[in-house]
Amino acid sequence: MRILLFSGKGGVGKTSLAAATGLQLSRLGYRTLVMSVDPAHSLADAFDLETDLFHGKTGDPYPIDGRLAIHEVNIQKEIKQHWREISSYVISVLRTTGISDVEAEELAILPGMEELSAMMYVNQFRREERYDVIVLDCAPTAESLRFVSMPTTLEWYMKHIFPFQRGLLKAVRPLANRVSPVELPPDNYFANIQSLFGKLDGVGELLEDAKITSVRLVTNPERMVLRETQRAYVYFTLHGLTVDGIIVNRVLPPAIKDAWFEEWRASQERILEEIEAYFAPAPVKRVPLFTHEVLGRERLEELARSLYGETEDPAAVGRTEAPYTFAKRDGHYEIRLRLPFAVKGEVGLFKKGDELVVEIGTLRRHIGLPVSMAALSPTRATLENRILTVEMKET
Ligand SMILES: Nc1ncnc2c1ncn2[C@@H]1O[C@H](COP(=O)(O)OP(=O)(O)O)[C@@H](O)[C@H]1O
Ligand SMILES: [Mg+2]
Repeated sequence: MRILLFSGKGGVGKTSLAAATGLQLSRLGYRTLVMSVDPAHSLADAFDLETDLFHGKTGDPYPIDGRLAIHEVNIQKEIKQHWREISSYVISVLRTTGISDVEAEELAILPGMEELSAMMYVNQFRREERYDVIVLDCAPTAESLRFVSMPTTLEWYMKHIFPFQRGLLKAVRPLANRVSPVELPPDNYFANIQSLFGKLDGVGELLEDAKITSVRLVTNPERMVLRETQRAYVYFTLHGLTVDGIIVNRVLPPAIKDAWFEEWRASQERILEEIEAYFAPAPVKRVPLFTHEVLGRERLEELARSLYGETEDPAAVGRTEAPYTFAKRDGHYEIRLRLPFAVKGEVGLFKKGDELVVEIGTLRRHIGLPVSMAALSPTRATLENRILTVEMKET
């Protein structure tokens, strides 16, 4: 099975591109599911479905044709199905603060529930071998990063905090329920957490396996959007996911010859060059700004052709090695950069904002630094077996 994650800033075109990718995949013969994890769902709208008809049926994948289905994760339904005990406990605690039931229910939708629910589906569909490819139409960048960091966080929590808290509660409950204004969580709350955890088992490995999961970052040729894309690239890489393609959407087509748009075009050209340099060697695709919104199957197919032509397979596994990895060793940070071929020559290292730029011979690589390393400077570099190791220290 393959999992393709479409991530990017709000409004850049994730849903349209994920839907078009789904159409291309199903045309090539894959059993495909496009799943929306963005609470502001617009997948059904992209296919221009009668929303009443569609929403009556959500919660289950909705067939578009023989091989393609779409699915909008419906949080209300998920709560009833998977989170009942957790959510009723949270509601009971919230009620003690004096807020209304309606508000309590609304607030009991905790951050991350949508993402976790989607992950449970991914896991379930993988076990059932129901689809060859699952395309995930993610929420804007910050949430999708939470999505991918969740499995490791949860694992840690379950191993270290969960048994401790549970044991402690058993001991203090008889006493605490008499004196505490807030009810302590009942046993079924913990049973619920444990069963959820079971349903998520193995998802972390799926996401980190580059032969299974690829991230496609969607961006527009605008500086502010690019900044967010660069950060997303750094953090997906940091979490062990492989970004194997960048899609620049809404590029002004050359046919537009208009003084009003000249400046836009010049600035887009500059930013496109920057994008190619920054993300190399990840392939960068360009999609033009169409004369219309991408709405309905026909237009999604037009978008798919522009992206992939007739034959390109979006599920093909691109690169499987992380372009760089970060580590902390003996009190300093280390960046390990994999070089594509044996390069020789002086290694040049310099900082540019929160990026590290590495130059060797004619090769140039931009490495975005996570917040924890942004203030550090490169102090030493060693090259061995095509791996360049850069030491980062406070200077
Ligand atoms: N290349 C394009 N040309 C014209 N309109 C586009 C293009 N890509 C996306 N759109 C339109 O832009 C809007 C936002 O796109 P959408 O895919 O919903 O973005 P996101 O999911 O990232 O928020 C939609 O109305 C969509 O039809
Ligand atoms: Mg969307």
